[in-house]
Amino acid sequence: MKRYNIAVIGGDGTGPEVVQEALKVLDTAAKKFDFQLDYTHYDLGGDRYLRTHEPLPDSVFNELRQFPAILLGAIGHPDVKPGVLEKGILLRLRFELEQYINLRPVKLFDERFCPLKDKKPEDIDFVVVRENNEGLYTGSGGFVFRGTPHEIAVQESINTRRGVDRCLRYAFDLTRQRNQGKRLTLCGKTNVLTYAFDLWERAFNEIGQNDYPDVERDYAHVDATTMWFLKNPEWFDVIVTDNMFGDIITDLGAMIQGGMGIAAGGNINPQGTSMFEPIGGSAPRYTGQGVINPLAGIYAGKMMLDHLGEIDAAKAIEDQIIRVTREKIKDLGAKRMGYSTSEIGDLVANGIAA
Ligand code: IPM
Ligand code: MN
Repeated sequence: MKRYNIAVIGGDGTGPEVVQEALKVLDTAAKKFDFQLDYTHYDLGGDRYLRTHEPLPDSVFNELRQFPAILLGAIGHPDVKPGVLEKGILLRLRFELEQYINLRPVKLFDERFCPLKDKKPEDIDFVVVRENNEGLYTGSGGFVFRGTPHEIAVQESINTRRGVDRCLRYAFDLTRQRNQGKRLTLCGKTNVLTYAFDLWERAFNEIGQNDYPDVERDYAHVDATTMWFLKNPEWFDVIVTDNMFGDIITDLGAMIQGGMGIAAGGNINPQGTSMFEPIGGSAPRYTGQGVINPLAGIYAGKMMLDHLGEIDAAKAIEDQIIRVTREKIKDLGAKRMGYSTSEIGDLVANGIAA
């Protein structure tokens, strides 16, 4: 029997509740499909930081890097200054574990939950490949004359040919693998960011022409992309973009698939430790009430199984998420689901076991 060591970080707010349901579903799928998941839980997040003043000790980091995958609930605490935990935990893991892909599927499971008129599940089914290690997120830049009237703040977008190439190749491979229209759209801003996206566009066309002639190449400016998300989401198959644009457009993507209650992503290092998370945040005001929707966390678990190669189990989880979304759940948002957090976990798990 195959066994996988998984690091689990429940994190802050409702993160642990959501992760608990994800583990319930994962264990049910493992049993059904004959593999085993061995979890090691890590206490990271705002509470630990407030106790120890250390967001992520090196010793913990060095343990985490031994795992093939990490399942993360959420990071973000109302008593910790914004940025400390994000940079100290989430971004550090993404960067230092070289999770250079942030994979964010945008998939509508039931048309009742789409805010767009007349859009159906077949219209909203695409994947955003967000570069996850470069761009505006590296922390490159600084202040001059801080706090004076002459203050200058510089925040630089770093785009290396190596970093862009590996991201593009991942996106081309995924487009080919998905085999759904085989269209890869580069989302950029070539009309203004004439250095950064010049590099992206040249790399995109070179790699596409030479190694992926079977994949259709398409380009959209980021502002137009947000427009197309609302107007013609059915146009998209796979979108590849930089870190900042990917951050922004995937929140919009989450909304057209029904909201943060359902959106998940994977921070992928194809050769190392990858990390899977619901993208909605810690929602601290709902902590401990059993009212948060765990489906995004469960979907993150599904993505983790895909990554580990447990394709059939992943598919079974997705099928049950779709069933529960269509047949049971009243609303994808917290408090309005018609079921408690653990009841939704049970509905998905029982569907798999059946
Ligand atoms: C996300 C989040 C993070 C990001 C924050 C919390 C640092 O918004 O995962 O999209 O900007 O990447
Ligand atoms: Mn974001």
